[in-house]
Amino acid sequence: MTLEEVRNQYENYPYPYRNPEDEKKRLRPTMMGSLPRLSSLCYGGKNIIKKGFRVLDAGCGTGDATVFLAQQLKDVGGKVVAVDFSKESLYVAKKRCEIRDLKNVEFINGSLLDLSEMKIGMFDYIICSGVLHHLKNPSDGLNALKSVLKENSFISIMVYARYGRTALYMTQKLMRLINQNEKNVQSKIDNTKVILANYHKRHWNQLNLLKDDEKMGDIGLYDMYLHSQDRAYTIRGLFDWITSSSLNIFHIFQEYQYDIRFMLDNKDFLASISKLPKLERLAIGELFFGQINKHSIVVSKNKQEKIDYLEQDYSLYSPTLLLNIDPKHLKKSPKITVPLANNFIIHLNSFNRSILKNMDGIKSIRELLNIAKNNSGLGEEEGVEIFKDLVRMLQALDYIIFRKIEGPIK
Ligand SMILES: C[S@@+](CC[C@H](N)C(=O)[O-])C[C@H]1O[C@@H](n2cnc3c(N)ncnc32)[C@H](O)[C@@H]1O
Repeated sequence: MTLEEVRNQYENYPYPYRNPEDEKKRLRPTMMGSLPRLSSLCYGGKNIIKKGFRVLDAGCGTGDATVFLAQQLKDVGGKVVAVDFSKESLYVAKKRCEIRDLKNVEFINGSLLDLSEMKIGMFDYIICSGVLHHLKNPSDGLNALKSVLKENSFISIMVYARYGRTALYMTQKLMRLINQNEKNVQSKIDNTKVILANYHKRHWNQLNLLKDDEKMGDIGLYDMYLHSQDRAYTIRGLFDWITSSSLNIFHIFQEYQYDIRFMLDNKDFLASISKLPKLERLAIGELFFGQINKHSIVVSKNKQEKIDYLEQDYSLYSPTLLLNIDPKHLKKSPKITVPLANNFIIHLNSFNRSILKNMDGIKSIRELLNIAKNNSGLGEEEGVEIFKDLVRMLQALDYIIFRKIEGPIK
């Protein structure tokens, strides 16, 4: 498969489908594009939305991350460079930025493999989502990204995960057989539609969790079932690939999906698993859940330590939790069910309920603990353990953002 074949696909089917006019109605956030989240994960919760902050969106497509990042950096003098080899995709991304009056984006039509020759400077942060798995040699792409990353900076990467895409690969194989003599692209798509419409109700593909892509019509169908270059990784394969490129995996987004403790409630059974090395545990979780269809990670050039937020004074908040959970549940229910793939459950007691209700990105952790102690009658030690458990869960979901409190702390 050639680079040219992949480029042609994205010229004909810019992905994902977006109507620029929708920018008048809403801003579409992306997990990797949230700079407060990046700051919380990687920069000790300090404000990074500042003049001179430079982000690269490599393989920006129709601009989801580009638009979101440029919006956050708009008023402070930060900049986004958006690179894609599909002119049609860039056209959509540009239109979206125009409608939002975002002038802090430079669009470059070219291959990310040529980044080091583009003379575009070095970056504080790079996003490369859904791109590297479409390269003939993904390591070449990774090295190209590395060549324009500043020291002590981070790259967020999304690549496909193998097991959750099992059924999809069956369909890809089937369509290659059916379409082997078909030259016309529309006929290939139409053949795929016939197959999908007539699959037996117990065919593996009926479990496909990527139905959203099908809603994008031909663009989504092509990307899923007819792609000419599509590779997927197990979590172990991903670690091998990243570390062999002399990079470190700093964070795995939504790690709860790889953590059997969140899916299986049997302490004796879990005891021996919890003693295994981290990668073994992740591999166990991935196989047990079976539905992870993409890996989203943050990697760093240099080894970096994660901050232990309990040791210093921070405030915290959870925009995602607020969006996903009915506030009534927070008041009364004994538990909240987070509406994700495996309906993650957080059991509530008077202490963690108080924390959840009061965390607002302003009150310090110290203040939150004191309020929760008053509300629950629990002591410091017990309270801190409950708080740590809650934070661990919210971190595994990537639902929590820490902010460094500047100035005096209450
Ligand atoms: C699946 S889309 C993802 C788009 C976007 N990053 C997102 O997450 O919505 C993949 C994009 O990568 C671009 N792409 C693939 N290989 C590339 C390369 N070598 N150089 C630049 N862009 C590339 C394609 O044109 C396409 O727009």
